[in-house]
Amino acid sequence: MGAYISCSRLANVTARLGALGVVSSVGLRHIIPEQIRSGDEVAISLARTFPIARYVEELLSYAPGGSRHKRAIPIDVPDPIKGAFAKRLSVISAYVEVARAKLGHRGFVGINVMWKCSLTVLPSIYGALLAGVDAFLCGAGVPMELPDIVGRIRRGQRLDYEPLTGTGTHVHMDISEDGAENLLRDTPEPSLLPILSNFAFCKRLLDTWQKRYEGATPTAFVLENHAAGGHNAQPRDKVAFGESDDIDAYFDKVLELGVPVYVAGAFTEGGSRNDLLYWQGRGAQGIQVGSRFALTDESGMRSDLRDRAVEAQAEGTLEIRTDPRLSPTGFPFKVVSMKGTLSEPEIQASQRRACDLGYLLQSKRIQRPDGTEHEVYLCPAMPIHTYLANGGAIEDTEGRACLCNALLVTAGFEKEGRVPLVTLGESAAVGPVKRSAREVVEDILTPERAADNERRLALREPIPVAS
Ligand SMILES: Cc1cc2nc3c(=O)[nH]c(=O)nc-3n(C[C@H](O)[C@H](O)[C@H](O)COP(=O)(O)O)c2cc1C
Repeated sequence: MGAYISCSRLANVTARLGALGVVSSVGLRHIIPEQIRSGDEVAISLARTFPIARYVEELLSYAPGGSRHKRAIPIDVPDPIKGAFAKRLSVISAYVEVARAKLGHRGFVGINVMWKCSLTVLPSIYGALLAGVDAFLCGAGVPMELPDIVGRIRRGQRLDYEPLTGTGTHVHMDISEDGAENLLRDTPEPSLLPILSNFAFCKRLLDTWQKRYEGATPTAFVLENHAAGGHNAQPRDKVAFGESDDIDAYFDKVLELGVPVYVAGAFTEGGSRNDLLYWQGRGAQGIQVGSRFALTDESGMRSDLRDRAVEAQAEGTLEIRTDPRLSPTGFPFKVVSMKGTLSEPEIQASQRRACDLGYLLQSKRIQRPDGTEHEVYLCPAMPIHTYLANGGAIEDTEGRACLCNALLVTAGFEKEGRVPLVTLGESAAVGPVKRSAREVVEDILTPERAADNERRLALREPIPVAS
């Protein structure tokens, strides 16, 4: 999970060179309205191209002179009526971010939809589809319902998942009055790429999709090794990563399922041409690189943090560790040790507990004393009394920190009393640092191939698979 590190500016550069440019869906309901609030002309003009007037008016009410210009951005809530405005903002925000990544070229753009950010899964997919997104990459959970979600949205149907598999969270979205079936008629059928970290989930997901959704098959699996940046899958023994967690333990077995595979987070040369050739030699279609791009000038990381990480990398002092407790999701999280950030235990301990952004909220149904059931939303980084009062367990709260706030600060959205948190994969400590995204793509594909891809895209010619 990074917020706005894989931003539209970065994805725009990589997509026009023939790679799949991927934006992150995390935090967009706050990020895009803040851009609008600051008068960002590109964001405002892209918002105006959104095809449903109500959504446009609501987002633009945050623009200078607008009725909500000084108001806070709403968090999503379980009540379908009270949460509807936040959901509409999430939809149009995803639309604006994808549209910006697609601006001015004919390359391919995907969006990474984090399943653990359960409440924004449906709105992010809807907004991205309306922007003509080419691919969904879904991790931090097993995206069992993905083909159904995409299909229902394309048919303009209401969506209800109780719960969204693997999240415990009940999610709903009513788009029946939007006419989405007409709006989406001419948009491309997106590629579906689940991001998974073991054989069992790949097999289960493939079987489930085929059985439930008329033979649906993932376009490809992204197999993400535990050295990747952001969240990692739980180690098998729940304590530390060992050999059985390594991609080598399941890569060949997954290949046998007959679905193309991309590899992430397993780069002995930091995510370079040699890594691409190595994995292609083993049968992969390609690689998904994150950390090297996070350190380029086009990434959304606050420039002072990026510079410090690059400096530490050059000095050989870049320290990246796996924190098993920090993330409210319960997944291990890669943390870069850096002064003044949440990586320092004293700073973490001094942070106010709160849940005022709400992207990682998970739902739970509890019984009132009168026996009736109601739904509450919980995050183990919220104030402890609220967490306990809503049926949470004290042991879940230990060592947790508010990732939503820290990651938005890391992307330059400052907030009083909040500090940043830098995440990178282990490969960031290895590879040669290039400061422009174009150079990183050229380094992986070769400058000749990148230039040829760019030319072919401009001429609407097909581009060959990365080689
Ligand atoms: C800063 C950063 C943020 C990331 N955030 C996400 C995320 O939100 N969702 C996700 O599925 N993967 C995320 N990842 C993992 C990447 O998608 C990718 O799989 C990984 O970075 C590839 O390996 P590498 O880190 O060795 O380049 C993130 C990686 C980095 C470096």
